Amino acid sequence: MSSSSPRKIIIDTDPGIDDAMAIIYALASPELDVIGLTTVFGNAHVETCTTNAFYILDVAGRSDIPVAQGAGRPLAMDFRGPATFVHGNNGLADISMPPQSRRPHQLDAAHFIIEQVLAAPGEITLVPIGPLTNIALAMLLCPELPKHLAGMVIMGGNAFCPGNASPAAEANIINDPEAADIVFGADCPIVMCGLDVTERTVMTSEQIGFIATLDNPRARLAAQILPHYRDFHIARGKNDGIHVHDSTCISYMLAPQHYTTVAHPIRVDCGDGVGRGKTWPSLRHLMPGGPWTDRRPVTILTQVDSAAVVALELQRLTVD
Ligand code: RIB
Ligand code: CA
Repeated sequence: MSSSSPRKIIIDTDPGIDDAMAIIYALASPELDVIGLTTVFGNAHVETCTTNAFYILDVAGRSDIPVAQGAGRPLAMDFRGPATFVHGNNGLADISMPPQSRRPHQLDAAHFIIEQVLAAPGEITLVPIGPLTNIALAMLLCPELPKHLAGMVIMGGNAFCPGNASPAAEANIINDPEAADIVFGADCPIVMCGLDVTERTVMTSEQIGFIATLDNPRARLAAQILPHYRDFHIARGKNDGIHVHDSTCISYMLAPQHYTTVAHPIRVDCGDGVGRGKTWPSLRHLMPGGPWTDRRPVTILTQVDSAAVVALELQRLTVD
């Protein structure tokens, strides 16, 4: 593979308004080659997420990209239920979509990931932007999977700030802490794009208004769904705009210079107490035999040049 080849990625996703944004951003970026989408429960039930994934690809003119459906529930608990209050009843701001007749890939998400990665060892980066159930299942089915990955760039977790789904935990992680703990233990390069930066990356109402002036199908979809997401943020007393969660993975892959990072191994709280789902970096020396021992350091994003990465995403939306 030449150094100028686009980076092959599989986006594991629960679309989801901000998932849709990340997918269309990736599809508009020649540095990236989206070789598949895999779906997971989260913002909506998995079947709805799969329908939405097809629709997003259709809008982007990329119906050639396969969609493999994955887990409908977490590994070790019941699904907490769709985030209708954030993303609408259909996961995409309740916009109307034509009926979808396409069928998902014959392999489920975990097997699809394994097949693709083993067919291109060292070339594929996984970009999980939903609960980490599919990735954990793929690792359980194929323990050698991480060593064949180029790496993972994950939206999830909160290292040095509060959670958004509980005081302790971020939404993707609390939706399946057991899976997340498996995935953060993978022996491959991992980047954690957590709330530490995503809640400091803000696309303003004015910028959403700018998107509405653009005349291409991806921008029209964004302009349709983003006001719903913005209204949720305003109702929660946040900024007059949106936090940019899932697109952060794409921005980091395109422009890592806009981020500051630290590296620490991570464990996920899988207990039943108030800390469930918290991503804990080990900041001090590791006690031999302790919970963080033998875990590879994860690259944790800690600071962001919000204006620069939002400008980049907007610029990619202007391209036909
Ligand atoms: O906490 C943000 C994450 O959870 C994003 O992936 C978003 O889609 C949400 O549900
Ligand atoms: Ca998501």
